[in-house]
Amino acid sequence: MYVEVSNVKKSYGEGGSHVQVLKGVTAGVERGEMCVIQGTSGSGKSTLLNCIGGLDDVDSGSIKIGGEEIVGLKKDELYDYRRDTIGFIFQFYNLIPNLTVRENIEVCRYLTDSPLDMDELLNVLGLKEHENKFPSQLSGGQQQRTAIARALIKNPKLLLCDEPTGALDSNTSRDILILLEKINRKYQTTMLIVTHNNSIKDMVHRVIYLKDGEVMKTYVNDVIVPARELEDL
Ligand SMILES: Nc1ncnc2c1ncn2[C@@H]1O[C@H](COP(=O)(O)OP(=O)(O)O)[C@@H](O)[C@H]1O
Ligand SMILES: [Mg+2]
Repeated sequence: MYVEVSNVKKSYGEGGSHVQVLKGVTAGVERGEMCVIQGTSGSGKSTLLNCIGGLDDVDSGSIKIGGEEIVGLKKDELYDYRRDTIGFIFQFYNLIPNLTVRENIEVCRYLTDSPLDMDELLNVLGLKEHENKFPSQLSGGQQQRTAIARALIKNPKLLLCDEPTGALDSNTSRDILILLEKINRKYQTTMLIVTHNNSIKDMVHRVIYLKDGEVMKTYVNDVIVPARELEDL
């Protein structure tokens, strides 16, 4: 397995406000797979994603990416891990407002010696005609496409998406999901997609279902429904 999460526990707070958010999560994802982490609000999806991405630390357990243990890494080692391996996409884009589309993406291009080709990426994501606009001049879908380009320019091996369509209407959500599909095929990027939407799970290879900080079930889809055919997005 490319991503191996073993018995991960994570809690927040002290004393009376102590909450156990991840209660011994074990799960794995193969290289090149698209995987959905599904579950209701508060089930621990974002926490798990943030722990895998090295944005948050665990109380105990193990997280291996490509065989490398990331639990217990020092600050600078974690920084290198995030820079070299991980791309993040969030629900609310998090673009830099006073930089253009192209500049927002460029900021991350310098993080690697072997970035993807900027113009190819702008074309793949349908951003070429918008490259000189600022985020405030873009629709939500265009902003999210920019955020995806920014995450992808350094060609991350693992793309972590937290509710990537959570702020978008149904048609725009579909466009974004079609893009993620295309990117997975083109660059073999392993993807973890957190969502509470009940349809997205049908378009991916693997599903991890969380409830109250525990893995309720995990399975591999026999039949994959392309994003363009998903219902109830
Ligand atoms: N930084 C934090 N401090 C305290 N509690 C938190 C923090 N982050 C998340 N939680 C709590 O952990 C639980 C799971 O949160 P989260 O992982 O964001 O769930 P999900 O993404 O599935 O909605 C929630 O009860 C939330 O309130
Ligand atoms: Mg969340």
